[in-house]
Amino acid sequence: MQRSLGTCYYPEHWPKEVWADDARRMADAGLTWVRIGEFAWKRIEPSEGEFEFDWLDEAIDVLGKAGLKVVLGTPTATPPKWVLDKYPDMLAVDIEGRPRRFGSRRHYCFSHQGYIEQCRDIVTRLAKRYGSNPYVQAWQIDNEYGCHDTSLSYSDAARRGFQEWLRSQFPGHNNNGDIQALNKAWGNVFWSMDYAYFEDIDLPNLTVTEPNPAHVLAFRHYTSDQIVGFNQAQLEIIKRHSQVPVTHNYMGRITDFDHFKMGSEMDFASWDSYPLGFLEDRVGATIEDQKHYARQGHPDFQAFHHDLYRAVGKGRWWVMEQQPGPVNWAPYNPAPLDGMVRLWTWEAFAHGAEAVCFFRWRQAPFAQEQMHAGLLRPDSVAATGLKEAQQVAQELASAPTVSPNQASVAIIFDYAADAAWDIQPHGQGLSYFGLVFDCYCALRKLGLSIDFLSAESRDFSAYKLVLAPGMMHMPNDLKQALAESESQVILGPRSAARDTHMTIPTPLPPDLLPGLDVKVTAVQSLRPDLPTPLSKVGAIIGYQESLESNAEVVLSSTDGHKVAVKHSNMLYLGAWLDQLGFMNLFESCCTAVGVSTVHMPEGVRRRLTGHEEFWFNYNPQAIETILGKINPADFIKKEFLEKP
Ligand code: GAL
Repeated sequence: MQRSLGTCYYPEHWPKEVWADDARRMADAGLTWVRIGEFAWKRIEPSEGEFEFDWLDEAIDVLGKAGLKVVLGTPTATPPKWVLDKYPDMLAVDIEGRPRRFGSRRHYCFSHQGYIEQCRDIVTRLAKRYGSNPYVQAWQIDNEYGCHDTSLSYSDAARRGFQEWLRSQFPGHNNNGDIQALNKAWGNVFWSMDYAYFEDIDLPNLTVTEPNPAHVLAFRHYTSDQIVGFNQAQLEIIKRHSQVPVTHNYMGRITDFDHFKMGSEMDFASWDSYPLGFLEDRVGATIEDQKHYARQGHPDFQAFHHDLYRAVGKGRWWVMEQQPGPVNWAPYNPAPLDGMVRLWTWEAFAHGAEAVCFFRWRQAPFAQEQMHAGLLRPDSVAATGLKEAQQVAQELASAPTVSPNQASVAIIFDYAADAAWDIQPHGQGLSYFGLVFDCYCALRKLGLSIDFLSAESRDFSAYKLVLAPGMMHMPNDLKQALAESESQVILGPRSAARDTHMTIPTPLPPDLLPGLDVKVTAVQSLRPDLPTPLSKVGAIIGYQESLESNAEVVLSSTDGHKVAVKHSNMLYLGAWLDQLGFMNLFESCCTAVGVSTVHMPEGVRRRLTGHEEFWFNYNPQAIETILGKINPADFIKKEFLEKP
């Protein structure tokens, strides 16, 4: 597969007269792809049933004739005012019961049937008109589901949809719903919460104190299914009229719907990478790291999503939007260190991206994103990002293809577990994403390349080490497949801790018998500033379980508690460890199964492709490594014949 570059362009923002020059400059810069259309509903359909396609026909033609390939977005993230006038109740409702307002974007509820019909209509018209246009070479559906906290909606439409969805989950004998089965599964005897009818079940917001975790989890699953269904409706329409691949652009650390479910039907995954935008409030980095990496971004956050979305895309993925300079929406919006735009782009390619597109072509002098850099300044002069993009375009000539890497280490990522932790973190700041990310960072500090797997995976034969940290519910056949695999498996903390309705199972978790004999008899969360030292190196932070076990103890705390136990290929870890603790444990597991590790210098990360080894320096200063000196915001690439 070729590696290529692209950009996001809004022909409707600029006079027609500049389109041809823009297109020529994009092609001259070495860009291949141009994504358009994803917010242009009002320009395409100014009022209901009145269509203006001429400008879009012309824009696609101009771009295509310049040699660019178009990614056409469906504009359903920005319903115009007339759609809202037609369906005043289509707005999403926030957790406080307030309808969101018109005046920005993503102001719709995934459960509103009228809105879904309206989307079907515009998408059908676009797909029919452009489905076989030779310049349209890919489609993007909607834009960043879940962004701006828009997944969960507490609307009337959502309540009705939720009640019917629950009935289908508890069908009973006659498929009419068995409300007693729901009451039992949720434990509604507690606080007299039993329902008589499905119609009695409200949404889990505005309750006096916390709602039943089972109720909230069900609503999270319902919402995820709605989002996947919303996407599926558009996908089916596009597929009827077009042969070219279809994607959605996912976001960084938005986990409130099941991306694997959505991705299983799509041709490739893509995501929007804003390394500096994410640094302060999505990464969870310490203040020291936020300062140290202020102009570079966190060394693991982009890579984590590259690896995750590679799995969501079944191996095929892009960066659909890449920050080219300062953004406008983070707490602080510094300019990237010179070289970082190039580094981020190459890092994406090293993780297997087929394309990296820069957001956006020209900085808009008007409206919400006027403080957001583009490849061009508002006066059309090249901004810093363009020079780095051009440099990558030239460098691609000597490394044009993506060659996939088979990692030795895999982590199972489970969106349902993320929801479960969110509902019941048990301690301030604890999250599933945070736990998996901490494990990922520790593995990367050991120089390892990592694959993610979905919770549906049952074949682990490609991996020597498989981790499933924090996977709150684990079906028995998954436990069995892991136990029977040839891989070294690390479970815990909190793996298999709940059934599908957030109930603590008995026998007590993780219930791995007849394999590993271990029982979690109690759990506690800890203040982050009160770590418990481990007897080897590192410490327990945040979360700790009491383990009852006759198996071999591989890790214990200085206060005499069992922290990790092992039998055969199964290891259970009953705590959230700091980086030293995780690295030490993972390294000993790697050594035992013959996976070689390298202690990476601070802020330097390694990534293997099928025939290349990359070392990326995220530091603002040069670093000496065993491969040589790497300048700040730079990388070393080495070709190899045999995998290191
Ligand atoms: C993304 C979004 C773009 C633009 C960009 C600004 O989240 O998809 O439309 O808003 O952020 O950084």
